[in-house]
Amino acid sequence: MSSSRKFFVGGNWKMNGNKASIDGIIDFLKKGPLNPNTEVVVGCPQCYLSYTRENLPEEIGVAAQNCYKVPKGAFTGEISPAMIKDCGCKWVILGHSERRNVFGESDELISEKVGHALEAGLKVIACIGEKLEERENNQTDEVVFAQMTALQPNITDWSRVVLAYEPVWAIGTGKTATPEQAQDVHAKLRNWLSENVSSEVAESCRIIYGGSVSPANCAELAKMGDIDGFLVGGASLKPDFVTIINAR
Ligand code: PGA
Repeated sequence: MSSSRKFFVGGNWKMNGNKASIDGIIDFLKKGPLNPNTEVVVGCPQCYLSYTRENLPEEIGVAAQNCYKVPKGAFTGEISPAMIKDCGCKWVILGHSERRNVFGESDELISEKVGHALEAGLKVIACIGEKLEERENNQTDEVVFAQMTALQPNITDWSRVVLAYEPVWAIGTGKTATPEQAQDVHAKLRNWLSENVSSEVAESCRIIYGGSVSPANCAELAKMGDIDGFLVGGASLKPDFVTIINAR
C-alpha cells in the first residue's frame, strides 16, 4: 500500500440539492470528524459553486461537475474554468459517465476540456470506465486504455489530475465492483501510466474508484494497494459520506 499518495475522496452531488440541503451537508462535514489524511472535494451543481465555497470549511475542496474547453464566448449554457476559479473553486470533474453517455461527450471533447481546465489552472478529476456489455465482452482493458490514450495528449500536468475509474454498470446501481475487480483495473491503469507517461506519474497519480461506494463496502475497497480513494455519488449527500472519507 502506498503511503506517498494522499487518500482522496470526492463527492459528486450530480443534479441534486438546494441551499437548504447543502447546508445540511456542510453541517455534517463540519461535524465530521474527518480524517486529516484524506483530501476531500465535493462536486456541486454549477449554480451553487459560490454558495458552497463560501460556506464550506477551507480545507474541503469544491469542484464543478463539468466545464467547456475555452475561456469564454458564444456557448450558451456552458461555463468555463475561469468562471469556476472566479467562484473560488479549484477543481472540476470531467468525463463523468453521465456526461459521456447521457450527453454524448466524446473522448476527444473530454480530452480537450481536461487540457483547457489544466491550462487555466484547475485541478481535474478525470473519469473513465467501461459499460456492462463491454465488461461482459472482456473489453474492459481495451476501453479504459482507449479513454486514457485520448486523455493523455492534453494532460500537461499530471500532478493536478486525479483519475477516477468508474465502471458504468456500478454507478447508481448498488452493484459495486468487488475489491478484486477494482484493484485489477487500477493496477492495469497504473501500469499503463508507467508505460505511457512515466514511472513517477504512475507512482504518484491517485487512482480512485467510483460506483456505489457505501459505508458497507468502502473499508474493503480502501485496503487495496492501488485504490487511492473514491468518487461517491448517492452516499455523498448523506452523513454516510463521513464514514467513506474515513475509510482508511
Ligand atoms: P454512485 O455514483 O456512488 O451513486 O454510484 C458515483 C458517481 O457517479 O460518481
